Amino acid sequence: MSVVSIKPDIYWVGVNDRTTDLFEGIWPIENVGVSYNSYLINDEKKAIIDLSKAMKTDDYFSQISQIMDIKKLDYLIVNHMEPDHTGVLRTLIKMVPDIKILGTKKCKEMMADFYQITTNFQVVEDGETLKLGKRTLQFVYTPFVHWPETMVTYEVSTKTLFSCDAFGGYGALTGTIFDDQCDNMNFYEAQSLRYYSNIVSTFAGPVKKAIKKLNGIEVDTICPSHGLVWRKDPGRIVDLYSTWSDWGSTGGELGVTLVYGSMYGNTEQVMNAVAHGVSEENVPMEIFDCARTHTSYILPSMLKRKGVILGAPTYEVACFPPVRNLVKMALEKRVNNKDVAMFGSYGWSGGALKELKSIIGDKWNWIKDFCFPGGPTDEVLEKAAAFGRNFAKELKKKF
Ligand SMILES: Cc1cc2nc3c(=O)[nH]c(=O)nc-3n(C[C@H](O)[C@H](O)[C@H](O)COP(=O)(O)O)c2cc1C
Ligand SMILES: [Fe+2]
Ligand SMILES: [Fe+2]
Repeated sequence: MSVVSIKPDIYWVGVNDRTTDLFEGIWPIENVGVSYNSYLINDEKKAIIDLSKAMKTDDYFSQISQIMDIKKLDYLIVNHMEPDHTGVLRTLIKMVPDIKILGTKKCKEMMADFYQITTNFQVVEDGETLKLGKRTLQFVYTPFVHWPETMVTYEVSTKTLFSCDAFGGYGALTGTIFDDQCDNMNFYEAQSLRYYSNIVSTFAGPVKKAIKKLNGIEVDTICPSHGLVWRKDPGRIVDLYSTWSDWGSTGGELGVTLVYGSMYGNTEQVMNAVAHGVSEENVPMEIFDCARTHTSYILPSMLKRKGVILGAPTYEVACFPPVRNLVKMALEKRVNNKDVAMFGSYGWSGGALKELKSIIGDKWNWIKDFCFPGGPTDEVLEKAAAFGRNFAKELKKKF
């Protein structure tokens, strides 16, 4: 993409990534892409805020050259050290050996570890300002959104917040960078929730703290490092992030995520009966075959919906592995305070229930379980429908 002017002296010079298949080496983005947004402030002093992953390096630097002579860059602001924002750093330093790098104290330590860069780094304090000319930057520490060294940068005169990972989302930018020019906001909001549940939700506490801390600052435009720039309605993405971080502790809204796996179809048959029971109570529900759906796509539903029903057969005296792995990842991502029920088929010993109970412990509220041997009888199917109905009824009492 070519350079986009955001405000006088402030430009988007990012990279649209449509070729990486897995973000962080785990999360599928092959159909949607992601952007690494980088911002240039071309004032008396010239600053670049966050860089890009190491890809399309020529394109990236040629965008900066469209605006100014790269050698005249004075400052690099590193809000966050993660390589999706610093991948081209060594190349930049080769081009501009004297550029001054600004970041938190922790960022300085990590810069030495990751890139062996120890010179020209200037630690900025929380709240410190830097005058560039007409524009003035203020640095606000936001630790653990997403790493311990993370901060955000606020441009005082235009009320522009460069928020890095906070308020970001998956989804390469399609023609425009701005929310008001985007004709598919549902797509971006869904991709932002998937990004949040995959990448950020472990840090829901720090997200809440950051939102509270930034509350006192008047923000006209939010420029995150992934996804859309929010200039029409910056409050919208803050509200969404605030809601999503609340779900991490409240357990979310009325609804059920029904996740199952099945080797020979026995647990699957019962899943259909359970689902029927839930739907009879008119409770919203999403159903996922855990072995065929990447965890990335299941986490948003689990974060959002208070109820989780797990359908898992026994496998080697334990839980069917895809279901076990999903539950472990959800707990790592602080998908907390769920009401949970479990069902599944076993052959001789059973073991899925025992393992799930030991993994979940008291982190989720265990409502009910039922395991059955082999294929489901009519009686088992009736029991399964009642199990689904009763779970939904219990859930509704909480809303
Ligand atoms: C690889 C494998 C390992 C299994 N291990 C156990 C086990 O340790 N204990 C047990 O009770 N059943 C075990 N079973 C039997 C399954 O739990 C049983 O076939 C069940 O009906 C499968 O449900 P499904 O049709 O939903 O896949 C195993 C089955 C397979 C294929
Ligand atoms: Fe990050
Ligand atoms: Fe990032």
